[in-house]
Amino acid sequence: MPKTVLHVVGARPNLVKVAPIMRDMARTPERFRQVLVHTGQHYDDRMSRIFFDELGIPNPDVHLGVGSGSHAYQTATIMQRLEQTLLDYRPDVVVVYGDANSTLAGALTAAKLDLPVAHVEAGLRSFDRTMPEETNRVVTDHISELLFTPSRDADANLAHEGIDSGKVHFVGNVMIDTLEQKRIQIENRPILDELGLMSPEGNERKAREFIVATLHRPANVDDVDALRLIVDALTEVGRRLPVVFPVHPRTRKSIGALRSLKASPIMFTEPTGYLDFLCLLRHATLVVTDSGGVQEETTYLYVPCLTVRPNTERPVTITQGTNRLVDTRDGNFADAIREALDSSREPARNQSGHPELWDGKTAARISGVLSAL
Ligand code: UD1
Ligand code: UDP
Repeated sequence: MPKTVLHVVGARPNLVKVAPIMRDMARTPERFRQVLVHTGQHYDDRMSRIFFDELGIPNPDVHLGVGSGSHAYQTATIMQRLEQTLLDYRPDVVVVYGDANSTLAGALTAAKLDLPVAHVEAGLRSFDRTMPEETNRVVTDHISELLFTPSRDADANLAHEGIDSGKVHFVGNVMIDTLEQKRIQIENRPILDELGLMSPEGNERKAREFIVATLHRPANVDDVDALRLIVDALTEVGRRLPVVFPVHPRTRKSIGALRSLKASPIMFTEPTGYLDFLCLLRHATLVVTDSGGVQEETTYLYVPCLTVRPNTERPVTITQGTNRLVDTRDGNFADAIREALDSSREPARNQSGHPELWDGKTAARISGVLSAL
């Protein structure tokens, strides 16, 4: 009898994580019957549909249509709507991804019905409870039966919190599976041409130097003054080299209030699909972000990354990767960007390896553990 595995997703980064796992499990239908539930947390085509299309994720079996709202509204509504689905399917395991409200709500609903929860990307900690994701991470981990960790620091965090090591499986980073599977398509995107980022050089055309920026953390974008500080610095740097800034819908809500925007050379775009975004990252001289996943992808691609946050739950991207934290309140942020650009041009950029088990085989490790349940 195949095991029924029910995946709960809802936010953009969940989709990048679920894709390789569903794909791997689909190879052995004798082991797994899969059910996909979309909470509807993200619903714009460019935050959801495009990832299904590009990453080959099957259409959801159930769509809860929850949409946006406060944390309590979103979490509680997902729980209410998911409960009946879980009762209908009675899965052998409920798999949740990352640290969004959809993750917490999926885990809580399953745990209350006494269904085993598996958490992909367990154990990450920023130790900053002002971040809504930190609560989601801690609670989800403590009610999960299986914890799939992307890095050794995550194992150490879980041990420190007293979680039984028998539940913890160090499997590596599943986002890297997606990146590896899409590597060829990522290379061949017209986006660089479309944004004027290619320059002719002899017979060979090469990408020009440019910066990619993406921001969506409430601490950076909900407060217009905080956002202005970042956008003004990018504007200053953008007078000398192109800055591409795909705007997350949360950021869209406050960015319109910035008067300085009109004169800014920044290329603001809609959120891009996965393939275009990874093509931009891959060729960028520098990435300025507060995204969790982007810190990991730039580390894997050896592209310098400035993370606009006082902390990160992904310390391997600093100790073994290309990531640096920058606090916009300390000194001049435009200077920090310029310094990062200067060091990105140094020839001895470390390309000596990737964090342990960031090898494109994480999904298979997860399937292996789940099939032995
Ligand atoms: C959520 C996650 C965050 C994750 C991010 C990835 C939580 C608490 N936060 O943040 O961990 O890093 O997704 O992108 O779960 N909106 C739209 N269209 C959409 C989705 C959202 O316009 O398709 C707008 C709405 O105005 C909404 C706002 O964006 O209120 C924020 O969306 P929400 O899902 O609450 O949080 P994110 O900031 O996207
Ligand atoms: N991403 C994308 N288009 C964009 C911005 C990000 O495809 O315009 C991808 C990014 O490469 C990564 C994922 O979305 O794979 C990360 O999602 P996000 O930054 O929204 O969430 P976080 O990782 O911070 O939770």
